[in-house]
Amino acid sequence: MSSAPASASPAWHVTSMNPAEAPWPLLLLADPSREKVRRYLPGSTCFAARLTQQLTPSGVGTLVGVCVLVPLGDGQQAWELMNIAVAPAWQQHGIGSALLQRAITWTRERGVRQLEVGTGSFGDQLLFYQRAGFRVTDIERDFFLLNYTTPLWERGVQHKDMLRLTLEL
Ligand SMILES: CC(C)(COP(=O)(O)OP(=O)(O)OC[C@H]1O[C@@H](n2cnc3c(N)ncnc32)[C@H](O)[C@@H]1OP(=O)(O)O)[C@@H](O)C(=O)NCCC(=O)NCCS
Repeated sequence: MSSAPASASPAWHVTSMNPAEAPWPLLLLADPSREKVRRYLPGSTCFAARLTQQLTPSGVGTLVGVCVLVPLGDGQQAWELMNIAVAPAWQQHGIGSALLQRAITWTRERGVRQLEVGTGSFGDQLLFYQRAGFRVTDIERDFFLLNYTTPLWERGVQHKDMLRLTLEL
């Protein structure tokens, strides 16, 4: 879990977080629709990755990653991962995977059967979820064209369709 193998203590750790404290720059990195984020953030369950060696004045570590979970229906059967993001300077250090694993463990411990996530139909994010065991269960054609005012491009290709991925817990 540590990004600093030479250090005795981990350089970062994952904690639970009040949704109101979730930083907008990180949330918008994963979901550019501020309007959508405003809708799902209140009442969500959030986790944060914080640097343990850079304490803020309030005594908690600088926040470098976030993930946001919401129940689907009454939450007995399924939850959805609505947002997961790591500050660009801290990506590729295993922090995103640790946040995802926390989300998986947290939902599994509550007896939830499925964790769902919507993502683009190609690219690194898809691999990120598939590595954790998520499988494609549905496709929403034109989702990104219909639901986002700003076109989303990755490596010269426009995201149009959204894949719904599900992890059986
Ligand atoms: C997706 C994200 C949370 C992953 O966090 P992370 O801390 O970089 O992830 P980890 O270090 O645990 O794992 C890295 C793996 O994730 C995948 N990955 C996801 N996004 C990637 C990106 N932008 N660039 C490269 N690899 C990426 C790769 O498969 C990579 O594996 P590799 O190290 O073998 O190349 C992070 O890249 C991010 O914040 N992206 C912007 C927001 C976003 O797109 N969120 C998901 C919306 S569906």
